[in-house]
Amino acid sequence: MQKNQLFVGTFVHSKSLNQLEYLHDAAIAVDKSGKIVAIELQFYDQKQAAEILYAKLGWDDGDVQVRACEEGQFYFPGFIDTHIHAPQYPNAGIFGSSTLLDWLNKYTFPMEASLAKLPRARRVYGQVVRRTLSHGTTAAAYYATIDVAATNLLADLCLAAGQRAFVGRVCMDRLAPDYYADEGGPDAVLARTRETIDHMRRIDPTGDIVAPILTPRFAPACSDGTMEALGRLARSDDLRVQTHISENVGEIALVRELFPDAADYASVYDGFGLLTPRTVLAHAVHLTEAEAALIHRRGAKVAHCPCSNSALTSGECRVRWLLDRGVGVGLGTDVSGGYAPSVLEAARLACLVSRHLAMPYNAQGDGRRAPADIDDEERARATLSVEEVLHLATRGGAAVLGLEHKVGGFEVGMEWDAQLIGLNMVANDEHDDGNADGTGSVEKSSGGGVGGVGADEGNVDIFGWEKWDERIAKWVYNGDDRNTKMVWVKGRLVHQRPSSTSS
Ligand code: GUN
Ligand code: FE
Repeated sequence: MQKNQLFVGTFVHSKSLNQLEYLHDAAIAVDKSGKIVAIELQFYDQKQAAEILYAKLGWDDGDVQVRACEEGQFYFPGFIDTHIHAPQYPNAGIFGSSTLLDWLNKYTFPMEASLAKLPRARRVYGQVVRRTLSHGTTAAAYYATIDVAATNLLADLCLAAGQRAFVGRVCMDRLAPDYYADEGGPDAVLARTRETIDHMRRIDPTGDIVAPILTPRFAPACSDGTMEALGRLARSDDLRVQTHISENVGEIALVRELFPDAADYASVYDGFGLLTPRTVLAHAVHLTEAEAALIHRRGAKVAHCPCSNSALTSGECRVRWLLDRGVGVGLGTDVSGGYAPSVLEAARLACLVSRHLAMPYNAQGDGRRAPADIDDEERARATLSVEEVLHLATRGGAAVLGLEHKVGGFEVGMEWDAQLIGLNMVANDEHDDGNADGTGSVEKSSGGGVGGVGADEGNVDIFGWEKWDERIAKWVYNGDDRNTKMVWVKGRLVHQRPSSTSS
């Protein structure tokens, strides 16, 4: 059983889509169940304030673990990866010049098939969970493989490591290679899926940490019977659904060929009851107005995967356009379509991809507008800010996974899913408290001597003169897992970066 915990220092989280809130000299009390029970501001006299707080909460002094953050550190909500393929992790970075459909056949299906060997699955899945936790991912929507035992193993490993995970056995009973196909028809596909659902309900009856998610790989890979059965199950058991949509133009052409009677790609899923408020649609790069409107009506959400969409040359998801149409958006790493298991990387790439959308002419310089259907008004608003991508990485992702009342921000009643971020603090020998350039105040200047420049502390140097929003921008554009010092899920410490590492 965890102790009651008191976190003290600077807390940063999303207040709204384009605004971060900074709580300095604050304290957050987290009870034994991992819930935030109090947030105290202006916590200057730590000892006195703690006494008052403990009295209010009925906490016994000796039963509280206090953690104060150091200069240059702050608490941030855990990241939410709304789309990641655990079995593809060994392929991260391997895609050559392939695009979606040849990439699947050349790299992806052979790798996924190889994880039917459980010792191999254990090794790979163990690495994915450890690695994503080390990057601050406190919740993830995972695709596993078609294999029941390996899918159950992924759920076991997430639960043991304490990472919130929605784990889906991949359904693919059409156009699959013979060495990696979900055999036996829709009844068998459904039965295998039920086995994994039953397993997850057994190991985590509350579904708090690990829960199932129905996973028809994508429309071209699923028979009508399978999609119909999954749609029925989603409705009867109120289950989450994840799939891919409109990622690549070849894929869209294939869907048109396979479903000639459907109005469009989104309507294929809708026809099988697979577009629900609990559906996560990955990519959504090439949607039409009608599809965006349908997705909005059904309340389904989008996992934006800028790393993957760039690596596989799929295209640029129009995030602002989706948000303008009321479609919820979160970030996904889409390992290994995406090469990086880091949501921070996804956030910075979301910034860059949005800037590509904002540029009037494509990089080839042939004068062609790219994409062709974006008008000047949309282009002018396309750029996403640091604040916005951090919102997508936390509260946006939480909403995509139906966790918005539980995680994604620091509020009383929410759970403590958080990361302690440390940026290098360059010693400030001048003790120059007055901001000579008048750019505004940083609450506490370095006392000097703190730091570790030269140690494996990451790429982010802060000099003490930055405003907090500038520090956060430096973290988003230069940061990595070296800055992720500690990670908690539901109050439990699930990752701690070794304090001194030799490289
Ligand atoms: N579409 C169908 N399967 C996949 C997959 O594994 N990754 C990506 N990015 N797209 C897909
Ligand atoms: Fe994917």
